[in-house]
Amino acid sequence: MTTPFSDKVLRWFDKFGRHDLPWQKQKTAYRVWLSEIMLQQTQVKTVVDYFNRFITRFPNVQSLATAHSDEVLHLWAGLGYYARARNLHRAAQMIHDNYNGRFPSTLEQLLELPGIGRSTAGAIMAIAFAKKGIILDGNVKRVLSRVYAVTGSPLDKDFNDTLWTIAEKLTPNERVGDYTQAMMDLGATLCTRHQPRCGVCPLHSLCKAYSLDCVEDFPAKKIKKERPFRDVHLILLENNAQQILLHKRPDSGIWGGLWCLPEVTEKEKIELWCEQNTIKKYTLQKPLAPIKHILTHFTLQILIHPVKCNEGKRHKPAGTLGTWHALSALTSLGFPAPIQKLFKRYYHD
Ligand code: ADE
Repeated sequence: MTTPFSDKVLRWFDKFGRHDLPWQKQKTAYRVWLSEIMLQQTQVKTVVDYFNRFITRFPNVQSLATAHSDEVLHLWAGLGYYARARNLHRAAQMIHDNYNGRFPSTLEQLLELPGIGRSTAGAIMAIAFAKKGIILDGNVKRVLSRVYAVTGSPLDKDFNDTLWTIAEKLTPNERVGDYTQAMMDLGATLCTRHQPRCGVCPLHSLCKAYSLDCVEDFPAKKIKKERPFRDVHLILLENNAQQILLHKRPDSGIWGGLWCLPEVTEKEKIELWCEQNTIKKYTLQKPLAPIKHILTHFTLQILIHPVKCNEGKRHKPAGTLGTWHALSALTSLGFPAPIQKLFKRYYHD
């Protein structure tokens, strides 16, 4: 059954929605899942190239489940929010082990996989399996809070509960995949946070906020905290065999699971760090210009301290901190975006 609301949305989608994105072709649950995870917190235009590269290397659950995590993270490098890549890899292994590689197709099973929350599970149900699935991502929250003039902070449970109830009532039984895609497209392209294009919106005759001329008041602003600065000191240690010392960061914390330069808490600790890692003859060089990198909760100031040392290939750092990697082989590892950029600038330009 459709409703006046879903009819308007679907008619708009047929005319103006996006129909030729890579994950809309050769539709499989695996491809839909991958696209939905990449599209969490990332715009379609950024995702397209990442999706194409990822799907070429890992065309199905099996290939992803059996891959080395370094390769998965390497293909993710630059998309940010790396927990998404680690969860994706773990989920593929669970599907491989527990479901014989067949993608689970009930909401309950999807919700048990790491990285799949209520809205993503709803999107996969609707888009991949054409079963009734409810979505409520940031874009859809904005659309529904405006059409129904739902007050309250998006951080409050009441606000979210109200919107889930509305979303559930509005979702049609027919063409649920198209409806789902349409709602996300409408939120992303017309019902934008600033300067929404209400004049061409298929919902404006139903929209309470539009009739009250206060569209941009919804959803209510989250009270923003200042984003604090945080310094990170990294050592760029090069030996006499054209190798640098890299270490794999722990899974939790920033850049979890990615390869990075060794970190010290303050620049005065570099010499102590060299001693602990049995680096004997070395020279500290001038620090590079600081790199600013904005993350969700803070701004990083990345300070890179180049150090040249006399150790050769055979040297084994005494700490557990790192291993030597040839400068010529850096492109095959997953690095945080600012570190990848640094290598490109420092060694390849
Ligand atoms: N955000 C999350 N899922 C999406 C999708 N399928 N299309 C566009 N934006 C999205």
